[in-house]
Amino acid sequence: MLAQAAEFEQRLASGEVLRLCDGRILATVFYEPSTRTRLSFESAMHRLGGGRVISVAEAKTSSSAAKGETIEDSARMLAGYADVIVQRHPAVGSARALADAADVPVINAGDGTGEHPTQALLDLYTIERERGALDGLTVAMVGDLKNGRTVHSLARALAHWQVTLDFVSPPELSMPPALVAELRSRGTVVRETSNMDEALQRADVAYITRIQQERFITPDEYLKYKGVYVITADVVRRAKPGVSVLHPLPRVDEIATDVDNLPNAAYFRQARNGVYVRMALLAMVLGAI
Ligand code: NCD
Repeated sequence: MLAQAAEFEQRLASGEVLRLCDGRILATVFYEPSTRTRLSFESAMHRLGGGRVISVAEAKTSSSAAKGETIEDSARMLAGYADVIVQRHPAVGSARALADAADVPVINAGDGTGEHPTQALLDLYTIERERGALDGLTVAMVGDLKNGRTVHSLARALAHWQVTLDFVSPPELSMPPALVAELRSRGTVVRETSNMDEALQRADVAYITRIQQERFITPDEYLKYKGVYVITADVVRRAKPGVSVLHPLPRVDEIATDVDNLPNAAYFRQARNGVYVRMALLAMVLGAI
């Protein structure tokens, strides 16, 4: 899939206009906020050429879910309207539930604190592009590792390669223990710490995440952790030379803007890569290539 994404990136860069999805329809159904994920899926479908997109942007309030419709009923209906469905929903396991009830492909665009597998694919693509290879890397994941779904999916995805993972978080926001155990049982070296500077001494990739405000029960709980890790240009200078800084975005305060113009800052390139990777995924599940 990464190779297919690279091929699409080259074809678009050469000015080619694709025509791979004539008559196909993508439905995007988002019950949680999104900018990048929804727009890059929609852009990907348009860039594949010939396909169309139908969308409920504010599914929580503007779809029949607000009237109490179940995911299963939505699935049966959406499968009649579209050839592939991309869903984001606050409940862990909601993509699985939709996929089990729909007879068209379903892509998980984030299920609460669970997983965000297409983000993991674009993260892999970005790391490979920035570093040249995935094997042999030390990757530090920093921030809210308990509630952040991108790090859950990325850690699982990276375990397919020879990598060392450093998980940096306050102890209360650490990576779920079952996931750490799963990674170790697959042979991945995992270290856990709350000391970011120490981890950045050895990291080839620093994957920074936001404290997931919407998952905290009270504003005070969130404020306890807000700002706990902040990457500045000074922090990057003290880190392992050449470290690549990634972030799934949106950022709040965890990467200072003085990092943006350093060559280390890969997060805007990372966001752009979402289109190529989602083109590859859509083309594959639609049988268009
Ligand atoms: C992430 C998400 O929604 O999980 N955003 C994204 O899809 N790029 C990360 C986040 O919201 O912190």
